[in-house]
Amino acid sequence: MSDKKTGILLLSHGSRLDDGEEVIKAYKEMYAEEFPDIPVEYGFMEIRKPGIPETINKLTSENDLERIIVVPVFVAHGLHTKRDIPGLLGIESDFDPESISGGHHHHHHGHGHDHGHDHDHHGHGHHHHHHDHDDEEFEFDGEIILTDPLGIDTRLYDIIKDRVSEHL
Ligand code: NI
Repeated sequence: MSDKKTGILLLSHGSRLDDGEEVIKAYKEMYAEEFPDIPVEYGFMEIRKPGIPETINKLTSENDLERIIVVPVFVAHGLHTKRDIPGLLGIESDFDPESISGGHHHHHHGHGHDHGHDHDHHGHGHHHHHHDHDDEEFEFDGEIILTDPLGIDTRLYDIIKDRVSEHL
């Protein structure tokens, strides 16, 4: 492990319902219990507080951090993890607009606070309403690492099997 002072941000999508916060908060508490010396917070990319800027501000105001590792607690990559979250974090992304399927050509105007993004997972023609989102900014001169989402893993497959078998 690096000796850089590192903070962790567990990032959830954000919902108006409480279920998502209960889940990400529980994972944050599990991590904090297992790694009590590593600052960890949870936040949401949209819709719900705390958002990315305020979570980073909380981490950096309470700790002298050189690095923040952001884990998108999403199952798979999508436009949010490839495009929107890097934009909100102000970091480079290897996102290729040509990789969007469906024949639409989207234009990325993201400069960190572009919330008018299209969604690849919220159905057709549906957009979030971002009236509840303020424009808080964050300042961090250290390194921000955005990890992959959870991805393909037999530990997740086991959960899928559990969910099915509960009803067999
Ligand atoms: Ni979304």
